[in-house]
Amino acid sequence: MSKLKIAVQKSGRLYDDSMKILKDVGISIDNGKDQLKASAKNFPLEVFYLRNGDIPQYLKDGVVDAAIIGENVLIEKGDKISVVEKLGFSSCKVSIAVPKAAKYSGVADLEGKRIATSYPNTVIQFLEKNNVKAHLHIINGSVEIAPNIGLADAIVDIVSSGSTLYKNGLKEVEILLKSEAVLAVSPLISPENQQILNKLQFRLQSVLRGRQ
Ligand code: PRP
Ligand code: MG
Repeated sequence: MSKLKIAVQKSGRLYDDSMKILKDVGISIDNGKDQLKASAKNFPLEVFYLRNGDIPQYLKDGVVDAAIIGENVLIEKGDKISVVEKLGFSSCKVSIAVPKAAKYSGVADLEGKRIATSYPNTVIQFLEKNNVKAHLHIINGSVEIAPNIGLADAIVDIVSSGSTLYKNGLKEVEILLKSEAVLAVSPLISPENQQILNKLQFRLQSVLRGRQ
């Protein structure tokens, strides 16, 4: 019998809540994330523990049928991937921040500035929409340190509690988008696995209603 292949973030903020929601819909998974793949005992499902940033490509290629992933990652890398359900956890923003003491009166102030980010496509879109030209520094993590070490004048990164911005002496000046965890589907899912996904989605919807 066919099994639905679902990708879940291997480590990071979404992991715990992703596993919790699967548990809440009555799916019990054999092994922890030390194994990169695990099967559910009582539902035709295989869980793949993957790096966040790799998941959109796996969905596009049909290596996995579905994923629990941050909408912000799909917006950055997941063109053509559809969201089937918003899951109501891991909400965050993708925002621009500058040093607390910097003068900022609007997007135009970013003209010619250096912006450090892990979300280049999101930033490029925003800058183009606002007719601003800036220099991008693409880094993979600890983005908020960039202004302090003289690498950038501004950053674009995820803001959740706001604590990382605060600790690094930065202030949020623009919100580019708001995001939460979503269930996303591969354009290449088979009709058989689509049926399984429908069942999973139905269960998720009743858990989400119960959580409200
Ligand atoms: C993430 C993100 C922000 C921070 C936001 O970083 O890149 O830096 O969390 O959360 P907060 O507003 O609650 O502080 P993470 O700690 O995952 O590390 P990384 O940037 O090195 O990947
Ligand atoms: Mg960070």
